Amino acid sequence: MYNRVIKPIFFLLSPERIHHILVALFKMMKYIPGLTALIKRIYTVKHPLLEREVFGVKFNNPVGLAAGFDKNCEIYRELGSLGFGFVEVGTITPKGQLGNPSPRLFRLPKDKALVNRMGFNNKGVDNAVKQLRKHNHTSDVVGANLGKNTLTTNENAKTDYLKLFRYLYDYVDYFVINVSCPNVANLQQLQGGDFMDSIIEGIVDFRRGQAQYRPVLIKISPDLKYEQVDATIIAMKKRNLDGIVATNTTTSREGLLTNSTLVEDIGNGGLSGKPLTKRSLEMVKYISSKCEGNYPIIAVGGIMTPRDAVNMLEAGASLIQVYSGFIYNGPSFMKNICKAIIANEEKKIKDAAGELEGESVEGATKASTKSSTKSSAKVASTKISIKSSAKASDKSSEQVVTKVAKTSLNTTTK
Ligand SMILES: Cc1cc2nc3c(=O)[nH]c(=O)nc-3n(C[C@H](O)[C@H](O)[C@H](O)COP(=O)(O)O)c2cc1C
Repeated sequence: MYNRVIKPIFFLLSPERIHHILVALFKMMKYIPGLTALIKRIYTVKHPLLEREVFGVKFNNPVGLAAGFDKNCEIYRELGSLGFGFVEVGTITPKGQLGNPSPRLFRLPKDKALVNRMGFNNKGVDNAVKQLRKHNHTSDVVGANLGKNTLTTNENAKTDYLKLFRYLYDYVDYFVINVSCPNVANLQQLQGGDFMDSIIEGIVDFRRGQAQYRPVLIKISPDLKYEQVDATIIAMKKRNLDGIVATNTTTSREGLLTNSTLVEDIGNGGLSGKPLTKRSLEMVKYISSKCEGNYPIIAVGGIMTPRDAVNMLEAGASLIQVYSGFIYNGPSFMKNICKAIIANEEKKIKDAAGELEGESVEGATKASTKSSTKSSAKVASTKISIKSSAKASDKSSEQVVTKVAKTSLNTTTK
């Protein structure tokens, strides 16, 4: 339905216009009693294998909406009803700003990609607080993506990020420091090095004095060289940050199928979607091996199919986010990703159980009594909990996998 009817109609209009229409429609949803709950029932998959705890926050599923869709925190609850496990609002800047002149958002359908140079258009932090206050203390997980105002120099960036952090501290579950947007002049120079260290220092100092702990992550560019990624990881470790969001959009235009003249006419901006899949997966693999699985990674960039999502989790991500994939696949995308994640986890459990059966029950009669089933399940569950590749920060997922392993083993042997 979405691919055959809705998307072709949407794609007749300019991307930013259709975005505004969608925001207006999502805003209207709250005035129709029961509609959000109904949509949630249609699109949400609930399953213990999807649940996880990452950097101390509990997620019903690991599939989030990436920053940039709900810049003004107006529709995150309605978006959440489409099956997202969490929504990242923003980028929010201290003062409201218009961003770059239009047109500033383009589709490359042949490449299943988007190019944007929005430039942190948003209504500012006071508006964000007003919006977030309306729905405070709900169970929806919300992250805030923070950016400096375009006119703020890099020398003064620290003040902008600290202000945002202080104002929003009580209203969101985690924070992302965005220093990787290619559409704000000189912003990427904040990645790694002294500027970043001073930004993080201010934020972490403030957090130390608070009763509640709020995780802070850094969002990085896919265009960083590995030495720069290393510098970011060092900065993160030094200041006890909680993880990395990899990646933002790329300035590269390599390997596109779209006519090169058209691409040139579009001009500058960050490219997202399918052309980013390989690079962001490489980044996630690299960071995961460098951090030895000790720091959670939110993988984002080019997740266009459920398989891409599973690949990111297998590469070491704890959570994933989508943006372009949501635009190109529609509202069923998150449900399909969740189903693929469950299938993948179940396969791992079955494989591990089969492996164990081969090792320990070799030659013996297959367990047919309830007691033998239970004892082999116990052994299997121990082994699976180790094999489930649950991240160090993901203990509840490990427990769930263990629990489900027991259940599925009982079911299959009954
Ligand atoms: C129109 C648009 C606006 C975006 N705005 C932001 C933003 O404000 N802050 C941010 O951190 N990332 C922003 N992004 C980047 C996305 O969050 C994401 O990192 C990127 O698009 C790669 O994911 P994807 O390939 O699934 O789209 C934006 C992306 C798009 C397409």
